[in-house]
Amino acid sequence: MNKPLTEHLRYGSLNPVPKNESRRTIDTILSHQSCRTFSDQPINEEIKQLLFAAAQSAPSKSNLQQYSFVDVVSPLIRAKLVQMFPSTHWAFDAPMLVFVIGDTHRTQQINLARKHEYRWEQTDAFLNTTVDASLALAFMIAAAEGLGIGTCPISKVRESTDSVASLLELPKGAFPICACALGYPKNQEQKILPRLPQSVVIHRDTYQPLDLKEIDQYDETLNRVFGPPKSRYPEKFGEPEVGTWSDNVARQTAVLERPDFRDTCERLGLFGKQGQQPISD
Ligand SMILES: Cc1cc2nc3c(=O)[nH]c(=O)nc-3n(C[C@H](O)[C@H](O)[C@H](O)COP(=O)(O)O)c2cc1C
Repeated sequence: MNKPLTEHLRYGSLNPVPKNESRRTIDTILSHQSCRTFSDQPINEEIKQLLFAAAQSAPSKSNLQQYSFVDVVSPLIRAKLVQMFPSTHWAFDAPMLVFVIGDTHRTQQINLARKHEYRWEQTDAFLNTTVDASLALAFMIAAAEGLGIGTCPISKVRESTDSVASLLELPKGAFPICACALGYPKNQEQKILPRLPQSVVIHRDTYQPLDLKEIDQYDETLNRVFGPPKSRYPEKFGEPEVGTWSDNVARQTAVLERPDFRDTCERLGLFGKQGQQPISD
């Protein structure tokens, strides 16, 4: 399993891949923390290739591989992204910036070329591409962090999905799921964010009812480790006495974020009002 990587069958014939120090995968995964400050050290092409190969190593439904990555290197496109999302400039200025694209376009092109009609149920197709793309992103994140590279996925970009799709010239059937900023961390302190206890998330045999006391305990744990979080939507819901994770979950999901998302998906060719529209481009 842990043979040193010098050549690999990932692309179907033995290809050389850049060498790297092997580390224990599980340690890397358990140490995950998002990184939002990067040093200027660039990520070279060899490492990028390695990260994309890791992403493509993720499992994929029926091996359909319905995702693409857009590696944004153009200073012009980066500047436009900073302009569109000024509060997230740190991500668009990162040494490596990748957009994770759910991609039914490629499948539909293959479908046309092989003289079949594309007939997949739209929501199912959307879910399949999103799962494939998310797994690929997760593999890339784990690989990057194993090499000491910090990462942060950015769903902020979905606040302007139409503009992002047009900036990246995405064809019909391809949609941005999120971006991901990558770079070597700058002065990163150890900040592992505790997750919900397994007793809440892992069910044995059948789904167990939620015990809200465990949510209270999780709130306490997070506040003990990191202090109370900044409350979401204070202008709408006021300031709580003490902010908590669960209060923020409730606040965030009590506001209709991205109300036009369904319309956006229709414009991007994912959900047509009269059934799946075959692509013409
Ligand atoms: C799909 C996705 C989108 C995210 N979008 C953003 C974002 O727009 N801005 C941001 O600062 N962090 C973003 N994050 C990072 C999360 O805030 C972070 O993973 C979460 O708070 C847990 O912290 P940790 O990754 O350090 O454990 C995103 C994470 C995921 C998986």
